[in-house]
Amino acid sequence: MLSALTPESVTVATSPNKDVEVRKASMQDIPALLELINGYAAKGIMLPRTEFEISEDMRDFSVAYSGGKLAGCGALHFYSPTMGEIRSLAVAENFKTHGVGRLIVDALVYEAKMYGLDAIFAFTYVPGFFAKVGFNQVERGELPLKAWKDCLRCPKFHSCDEIAVLRVLRPQRWEHRQALPKVLGVEGGAVVLLPTVRRPV
Ligand SMILES: CC(C)(COP(=O)(O)OP(=O)(O)OC[C@H]1O[C@@H](n2cnc3c(N)ncnc32)[C@H](O)[C@@H]1OP(=O)(O)O)[C@@H](O)C(=O)NCCC(=O)NCCS
Repeated sequence: MLSALTPESVTVATSPNKDVEVRKASMQDIPALLELINGYAAKGIMLPRTEFEISEDMRDFSVAYSGGKLAGCGALHFYSPTMGEIRSLAVAENFKTHGVGRLIVDALVYEAKMYGLDAIFAFTYVPGFFAKVGFNQVERGELPLKAWKDCLRCPKFHSCDEIAVLRVLRPQRWEHRQALPKVLGVEGGAVVLLPTVRRPV
């Protein structure tokens, strides 16, 4: 099943105005990815990425192309056996509002399900878009893995203005997990973490 996640595998969607293909990224996409992501980073909308970082995370990335041009990108980053994050989601200015963002999120959700994740989350300035593609707004403290792995090193840790959003992919497993006691992760400034226990199959 995972062999479907190759650079050759393509999801074709016909939006009202543009034909768009979504596939896993490959190293040849790096120059276009850097231009797209760092263009938004220069406006303070996204975090900047280096060639080194994108190479390292290449397997996380999916890309959307239209007419040979990069229309958008997004990455699914794994945090634990049950949780992943959508990040580096960007649609080129001239492709916005044609359904490309939704198409990329759909592809990342499909990938997350194939890997058996229970839920995916994102930190964003565009909660309205994420609401449209099936995410709910949550308290940052509900996403302790992110805080533990990334936020503690972020200069905006104590003044973060991004909004946390979550999409549960396997409700039964997620509800079971929420019922477990908190042990360690980030809550009220202290470190508290939700254990990533799975219900036996
Ligand atoms: C946010 C972004 C990815 C959306 O991509 P897009 O291709 O324009 O979005 P789509 O056309 O797929 O929109 C899907 C739905 O979300 C809505 N939507 C899109 N952008 C939105 C926004 N900023 N606020 C609220 N709703 C939005 C659309 O109206 C559409 O709703 P509909 O299904 O009812 O018609 C794109 O605007 C972008 O790249 N922004 C700059 C980078 C960024 O902020 N990335 C997010 C980092 S987490």
